[in-house]
Amino acid sequence: MAIDVLISEEKLDNRITELANKIELDYEGKDLVVVCILNGAFVFCADLVRKVNNSIYVDFMKASSYGDSTVSSGNLKIDLDLKVDIEGKHVLLVEDIVDTGLTLTNILNRLGKRKPASIKLASLLYKPARNEFPLDIDYLGFSIDDLFVIGYGLDYAGKFRELPYIGVYSEDS
Ligand code: IMP
Ligand code: MG
Repeated sequence: MAIDVLISEEKLDNRITELANKIELDYEGKDLVVVCILNGAFVFCADLVRKVNNSIYVDFMKASSYGDSTVSSGNLKIDLDLKVDIEGKHVLLVEDIVDTGLTLTNILNRLGKRKPASIKLASLLYKPARNEFPLDIDYLGFSIDDLFVIGYGLDYAGKFRELPYIGVYSEDS
């Protein structure tokens, strides 16, 4: 197998600073609940919230749509739900990557029923070529080609989340 660097640590840091500055302005004086979608978004979310100088509440949701494979199963399972009551609050969902869009569409529908004041989406990565469920990503890091990526929280069969950059994974040919 081989890993090629697609987005360096420095590029990630610069872009996340830009997104955080925008979030800080947009939510100034508002009650913001940041929802980190586990597992993949844990690194992005940790870096993002540390650059937002507002008082925020962070909670976690865990959903799984992938097995130990690079192809989506098409099913979404909620493994961990929010503890916080989001009624009347401004919610920002933080995801690692939007691929087909199934995960965020499903979570958005579920949380929308809990009467939040607003829900917006932040995703570090987006693969337009694979999109099946159209979504407006309010805070997007990077659009990428249809490649299987790892690192910076993203995994292949549970591995490579610790890499500080986004890399392209390929099996040996
Ligand atoms: P979606 O539901 O098809 O949009 O898939 C989103 C989820 O699939 C993400 O939260 C990731 O966990 C996973 N995923 C999609 N593409 C990749 C990839 O290139 N690398 C690692 N995980 C991926
Ligand atoms: Mg994910």
